[in-house]
Amino acid sequence: MKDKVLQLAKEKNAVILAHYYQTPDIQEIADFKGDSLALAQKASEVDADIILFAGVHFMAETAKILNPTRKVLLPDLAAGCSLAESCPADDFRKFKALHPDHIVISYINCTAEIKTLSDVICTSGNAVQIVESFPKEQKIIFAPDKNLGRYVNEVTGRQMVLWDGTCEVHDILSSEKIMKMKIENPDAVLVAHPECAHPVLLLADFVGSTTAMLDYSKNSASKKIIVATETGILHQMQKDSPNKEFLIVPADETCSCNDCAYMKLNTMEKIYLALKNEKPEIILPDDVMEKAKAPIVRMLDLSR
Ligand code: 13P
Ligand code: SF4
Repeated sequence: MKDKVLQLAKEKNAVILAHYYQTPDIQEIADFKGDSLALAQKASEVDADIILFAGVHFMAETAKILNPTRKVLLPDLAAGCSLAESCPADDFRKFKALHPDHIVISYINCTAEIKTLSDVICTSGNAVQIVESFPKEQKIIFAPDKNLGRYVNEVTGRQMVLWDGTCEVHDILSSEKIMKMKIENPDAVLVAHPECAHPVLLLADFVGSTTAMLDYSKNSASKKIIVATETGILHQMQKDSPNKEFLIVPADETCSCNDCAYMKLNTMEKIYLALKNEKPEIILPDDVMEKAKAPIVRMLDLSR
């Protein structure tokens, strides 16, 4: 199946972009893998006819918005995101109306429609930088991740108004379990994604985006790393540092893995079928693409 996918991608002049939360087999066939920011940057530059996005819906939408003349395929259209789902556009419009003197900074994990209601987009990799590009007195709504928003408020000393959304994978990682792991592994360091809840971040030696956690783990002198994020990251961590031990933080005592059910909907078979049939394709109304593009491009400009 892997060879068939690669052959088909070549024949169709398709490029395969994959997030680090994809399964190792998919990461290995990707032309480019990255976190949300790197994937958005890459998607904007692709000159192949087709972008096959091995990720979730908001990522494929972002690719389409940034590069609208390419055909963007998502192997399974049900690959959503709890953060995007937590923020329906009609409810967000009402929320925005309650804070008329605020600008809106939205985490890229939101629908294209929410992006049309935003002034600038950010990812976990540049959220602090994007917020700090505005003067201290600027009033800001941050949506939809309240954990990331709270973390950015703490780092920047801002008091952004937060939408009440969470990532269903990161929000339930257990601080109790981490404390036990730290006691059992006193030589280990803890890296955590800022989508985790506050008690987890309080225990972390390093908080950062997927790419930032990969860099930190690669360069850390510690030989043992406790990882509070989605399991897919372990593949690259282990590749970068074959002699280090990585311990994933479970959600609770009964569950030892933290897979994002949406990310893991993608399979090699679905990628093959998507390339063969050239669907499911991401299609967005022209006016939505146009309005959603400006805040994403603003983010890319601010991140250069
Ligand atoms: P990053 O890729 O920005 O680290 O975000 C993680 C995530 O949850 C993507 O859905
Ligand atoms: Fe959304 Fe969380 Fe899955 Fe990322 S890991 S796609 S934020 S549900």
